[in-house]
Amino acid sequence: MKAVKTLGQFIIEKQADFPYAKGELSRLLRDIGIAAKIVNREVNKAGLADILGDAGTMNIQGEGQKKLDVYANEQFISALQCGGECCMVASEENDECIHIESEISKNAKYVVAIDPLDGSSNIDVNVGVGTIFSIYRRISPDGKAGLPDVLQRGTEQVAAGYVIYGSSTMMVYTTGKGVNGFTLDPSIGEFCLSHPNMSIPDDGVIYSINEGYYSHFPDGVKKYIKYCQVEDTKTNRPYTSRYIGSMVADLHRNLIKGGIFIYPLTAAAPNGKLRLVYECNPMAFIIEQAGGKASNGHNRILELDVTELHQRSAIFIGSKNMVAKAEEMMACFS
Ligand code: AHG
Ligand code: MN
Ligand code: MN
Ligand code: MN
Repeated sequence: MKAVKTLGQFIIEKQADFPYAKGELSRLLRDIGIAAKIVNREVNKAGLADILGDAGTMNIQGEGQKKLDVYANEQFISALQCGGECCMVASEENDECIHIESEISKNAKYVVAIDPLDGSSNIDVNVGVGTIFSIYRRISPDGKAGLPDVLQRGTEQVAAGYVIYGSSTMMVYTTGKGVNGFTLDPSIGEFCLSHPNMSIPDDGVIYSINEGYYSHFPDGVKKYIKYCQVEDTKTNRPYTSRYIGSMVADLHRNLIKGGIFIYPLTAAAPNGKLRLVYECNPMAFIIEQAGGKASNGHNRILELDVTELHQRSAIFIGSKNMVAKAEEMMACFS
């Protein structure tokens, strides 16, 4: 019988990797895990609970918020407020950063950026959705946390991860020493190590992009899509197109099987659709730690200057040889 290693046990075991940390990051990851279990409970019974459909409110992105967007946001913020290890939260669903003023939190070492519910358009149709989080060490003086703490470059992330609420619920995260995946065992209410040392294949045969916007894509992207579709048995083409509209679900599949996910600049999203701080940077950290590559088509995502909280970026992310090929076409044709 294989011994079960829970997320909590793993975090403590890996504590030794961080001599400077006195357990705060471990407790912060635990707090995020708790919120993920609470959100999972609602996602799993979404059809039964009054948690489907629109909340009737709009977020700063100009998106109609789903009830589950709002619920998930509340759960993660409240778990972080109670945990005491985070002094400020930046969320897709909040215009401004949320300062955690409690005595135990206001001088806490870490700030968290979060996409509480990724893939909202899929909630009501029972397709996989997720949560994405990014953790930075506070750089501002005690009690003075603010935007600069969360507008740090992606390379400064201390940890990043996602939760995928799919056929099973998993938490996948990195603290800069590889990527590990944990599957929730509902019978014991614990995330258990199921995918140690995850690595993305250098090559793959899956390309993920919303081809509905084809006519608005940059020429380099159009060329790459045609490259994916051309018959060439030596390089396993044509590839397979897989795109389900949840970044977390599309990237999780490509992390395991190999593949590339592209959300380029389009006419509707001239600066890109996906948000740098709480979607692109955390996913880029994870994929790079798994041996993959992430850029905006020209420059490494993790080195992009971060100037605004809800800043958007194009993203080409996944198997390193596939991203390199797409970048080559972007360099030649866009
Ligand atoms: P969110 O639900 O957090 O707003 O993110 C949705 C994102 C991402 O998950 C997905 O890859 C992308 O939007 C899909 O966009 P299109 O529907 O334009 O393809
Ligand atoms: Mn959204
Ligand atoms: Mn999202
Ligand atoms: Mn979201």
